[in-house]
Amino acid sequence: MATQLTTDLTGKVALVTGSASGIGRDIAETYAKAGAAVGIADINPDAAQATVDTIKAAGGKAVAIAMDVTNEDAVNAGVDKLVQEFGGIDILVSNAGIQIINPIDQFSYADWKKMIAIHLDGAFLTTKAALKYMYQNDKVGTVIYMGSVHSHEASALKAPYVSAKHALLGLARVLAKEGAAHNVRSYVVCPGFVKTPLVEKQIPEQAKEKGISEEEVVKNVMLGQTVDGEFTTTDDIAQLTLFLTAFPTNAMTGQSFIASHGWFMK
Ligand code: NAI
Repeated sequence: MATQLTTDLTGKVALVTGSASGIGRDIAETYAKAGAAVGIADINPDAAQATVDTIKAAGGKAVAIAMDVTNEDAVNAGVDKLVQEFGGIDILVSNAGIQIINPIDQFSYADWKKMIAIHLDGAFLTTKAALKYMYQNDKVGTVIYMGSVHSHEASALKAPYVSAKHALLGLARVLAKEGAAHNVRSYVVCPGFVKTPLVEKQIPEQAKEKGISEEEVVKNVMLGQTVDGEFTTTDDIAQLTLFLTAFPTNAMTGQSFIASHGWFMK
């Protein structure tokens, strides 16, 4: 008899980076509603605390963790804090991210390095810190990287973002192979455009770079290829992440999952 999928995460402990805002916040709240204790890891401690307060007010368990995902000591200390508070770590969602847009010939090396540090180094550092605990037992461990349609497709002006999001596919695939012996699974979740502060900031920037109106950026650049003209929502991504976390076997380890309202199909 196959194991039945259940989205009850009672007794599980999750760390979600970048969970003071946007997609990460919705994932953290969704996990907490499903019964998990959640570490709200973010570079913005006040906003992280606000997420914790919301989760606790709804009866969930959460702790705020001040963490810059590019700082190895802060990452290790943050994961240690979560484990001390809740007794372990079963789930990591490496989600923290920013966006900087510019054509390649005008991209400063400092901005390139900043983007790669947050999106790729941050994924490596948080994974390494979580594996230290996940590999200590035979319990199932789940690592989810927040990729993007830009893990599979390019857009102009986003060289480091597209490069880092593609690289996450490689990291997830290596982890799938190495982690299997320890019951650790990996996934990449790849959203289309989601209307979070990260995207709202981009709308006027893209309008300026491309010489078009903000309405045209939304209608044509961001949503032009979708089947319904709709943004992907934080809830779309939180539900997909919950499903992958709850999935009972190794069947899909190492895979990426695109959720983009039909913008990109692969
Ligand atoms: P957001 O701006 O709403 O949230 C990002 C969070 O990451 C913020 O709370 C911010 O304080 C935190 N953060 C930034 N740098 C950090 C650092 N060095 N250490 C720790 N925390 C840090 O952005 P959103 O849209 O929720 O993005 C989350 C992830 O989803 C990112 O990896 C992004 O690339 C990805 N994504 C977003 C899409 C979108 O359309 N919004 C589409 C595809 C992927």
